[in-house]
Amino acid sequence: MKKAFISGIAGQDGSYLSEYLLSLGYEVHGIVRRNSTPEHQESRIAHLDSKIHTYYGDVLDIGSIYRLLTQIKPDEIYNLAAQSHVRISYDNPHLTAYNNAMGVLNMLDAYRQCCPNAKFYQASSSEMFGNSIDADGYQRETTPLNPVSPYGCAKVYGYNITRNYRNAYKLHVCNGILFNHESPRRGSNFVTNKVVKAAVRIKLGLQDKLQLGNMDSYRDWGHSKDYVKAMHLIMKQPEAGDYVVATGKAHSVREMCDYVFKRLGLNYEDYIITDEKLKRAEELDYLRGDANRIRGLGWQPEYTFESMLDEMIDYWINEIKIK
Ligand code: GDD
Repeated sequence: MKKAFISGIAGQDGSYLSEYLLSLGYEVHGIVRRNSTPEHQESRIAHLDSKIHTYYGDVLDIGSIYRLLTQIKPDEIYNLAAQSHVRISYDNPHLTAYNNAMGVLNMLDAYRQCCPNAKFYQASSSEMFGNSIDADGYQRETTPLNPVSPYGCAKVYGYNITRNYRNAYKLHVCNGILFNHESPRRGSNFVTNKVVKAAVRIKLGLQDKLQLGNMDSYRDWGHSKDYVKAMHLIMKQPEAGDYVVATGKAHSVREMCDYVFKRLGLNYEDYIITDEKLKRAEELDYLRGDANRIRGLGWQPEYTFESMLDEMIDYWINEIKIK
């Protein structure tokens, strides 16, 4: 039985990855950050409670990482822990850099010393590209990294130190450069889930308006369930490498709002108010990924933009009606 160790196991991707690895027969271990409201902290993995092994831990708490990796001796390590909100990285730039840059180094170094025969996955991000875009309108593995947020800058360090450990120490370490990926488990301060939840509440008469920031940025949105399968596929390769994971289709925030409100029989223009506070000091305008490299390994997403949003709409209708 293979053993996996996941930092960020209680997050959206950590929860779907745990389910997927369990379905493949893995023993799954992971660290959960302590916070003051324990009842919410593990809600995404509560249903897996008896099947996975969780420990309090943090990528900044180096001692606990060394101890756990020495004890568990995993075959695969997935470093998903991060301060994952781009706008909040402007409010908390230092914390973002500690977690998203130093945290990666801590994990890599503990891995190199405790279990160097394992494989290591780093959750890199399309936010690293910033406003770089190839002439054909896509970002891919070779597109220059030109980050435009404290989050993106920290992720570039994580990406580079991962490549450095691969080359310098001949370790099996990989970067998945994931474009935006969503699901009903997405935090509701990310734009898709924020819009879906608010639109359902408006439809049910529980809310009048929705405040949003920039409506004209484009994102390549996929489903987290599809993307965790890509993570595992990347790790399965005999040779370590870096892979873009994306759908290849871009939609604006405005188009996404239009789709969600229309599905509920509403016109988004009647409800959305622009709030300057929700805009970023520097915006990333356009993301569309060319995932040909990983598609060449057989990966392809099952969800479309529409079926992903439909699932989220159905989730919030059930969730809100029950309460
Ligand atoms: N969160 C948020 N809230 N975003 C808004 C809002 C709002 O009220 N209004 C407009 N937006 C716009 C943002 O300006 C951005 O252009 C777009 O919606 C998407 O924002 P997010 O959903 O917060 O995602 P993100 O693209 O900034 O970052 C996500 O994707 C990255 C991969 O490219 C996060 O998941 C990152 O962790 C991930 O690395």
